[in-house]
Amino acid sequence: MSVGIGRERQFEIYVGGARGVYPRVPVSFERLQQAARGAMSPQGYAYVAGGAGTEETMRGNRAAFERWRIVPRMLRDVSTRDTAVELLGTPLPSPFVLCPIGVLEMAHRDADVAVARAAGSEGIPFVFSNQASRPMEETARAMGDAPRWFQLYWSTSNELVESLVSRAERCGCSAIVLTLDTTMLGWRIRDLDLAYLPFLRGKGIAQYTSDPVFVEALQETLRQETPPGGRITLAAIGTLLSQAGAYPRARLANVRSGHARAAVRRFVETYSRPSLSWEDLAFLRERTRLPILLKGVLHPGDALAAVDHGMDGVFVSNHGGRQVDGAIATMDALPAIVEAVAGRVPIVLDSGVRSGADVFRALALGASAVGLGRPYVWGLATGGEQGTREVIRNLRADFDLTMGLSGVASVRDIGRDNIVRV
Ligand SMILES: Cc1cc2nc3c(=O)[nH]c(=O)nc-3n(C[C@H](O)[C@H](O)[C@H](O)COP(=O)(O)O)c2cc1C
Repeated sequence: MSVGIGRERQFEIYVGGARGVYPRVPVSFERLQQAARGAMSPQGYAYVAGGAGTEETMRGNRAAFERWRIVPRMLRDVSTRDTAVELLGTPLPSPFVLCPIGVLEMAHRDADVAVARAAGSEGIPFVFSNQASRPMEETARAMGDAPRWFQLYWSTSNELVESLVSRAERCGCSAIVLTLDTTMLGWRIRDLDLAYLPFLRGKGIAQYTSDPVFVEALQETLRQETPPGGRITLAAIGTLLSQAGAYPRARLANVRSGHARAAVRRFVETYSRPSLSWEDLAFLRERTRLPILLKGVLHPGDALAAVDHGMDGVFVSNHGGRQVDGAIATMDALPAIVEAVAGRVPIVLDSGVRSGADVFRALALGASAVGLGRPYVWGLATGGEQGTREVIRNLRADFDLTMGLSGVASVRDIGRDNIVRV
């Protein structure tokens, strides 16, 4: 009989320690983040760690979790625990997915591929970002048959949207996650103070430079391209070389041909469509049979509209506090959305999930699953594939033990009864 992932992971760590083998990455979130900081460039760290404005919503996400407390029950035979759930036909061994996170190359050179391997080995779905550092085909190849979804940003080109979705289908993605909250970038003070945006350095645009529709459109940009004006500074040369890395051909040749700079320019022209509205969803609905989830829903009215427009699920998310500073915390938004949706489609909650207790509390309030964000990026930065795997295993273990110690043997028995608001 299996002792469950919680006890298994504890043994792994304690027995390892007795033999002088220690985990690759710190178990504590704070120490993990500190370790990652030491492994990353100041710009890379700021980009991942930062939120919008005064970062009030980032703090609020945590505070909202902490206002809910678990009330453990005793004597309820928790010798075996079932942490599995099914989400849109995808079986999950634990009720969480890895959120789409762009520009993972700033955390580790193996970027999305390392995360794909780690997620694949644990059976946890990985949501490929539209701003990934590696083309989705390469990331998909690294995970065998393991579950994966694709996150879409709706660009100015419907043709590109179509192309990305059909590539995702061919890559074996089993859902499309359409992110709604980033039609423009939030006012991110840490990045502004460093005057650093990774995309302008050619980072995080691999889904575009590997796309036939984007590459075709690039030819037009190339025809309009003029040589860079102004003084040649070391910083400008650095940027040019960094951009060159974005385009899959030999670096020097890219710089010479102007492809790299053109790709970045084309990306800037293409990225995002602030005019997007509910009517546009029909276009996407008609083009894929895959389930579509809307990410960034915070108002019950929007959750209702999602259901009315034939969407298959929502992500209650404030993008980790990176978009609207002062926006409602996701755990504060969740109850009204659960009520509005009334079980018709699954609800995934992200933003601020740091522990097994957080997963438990979100499920108790009615979420079907949660999304893990920054913690796995810190694991990747600190320990590559192995570090990411450990972060995933630790959360799975922590959740399993929280569930059992709270007197619950199966995810479906987690409910509103298990928590109180303080
Ligand atoms: C560095 C970084 C990059 C992100 N990139 C994307 C992205 O490309 N697409 C997307 O839908 N969400 C993106 N997100 C938001 C995450 O999917 C998720 O909503 C958020 O990280 C949850 O907050 P948390 O990490 O504080 O838990 C990003 C978040 C971070 C921190």
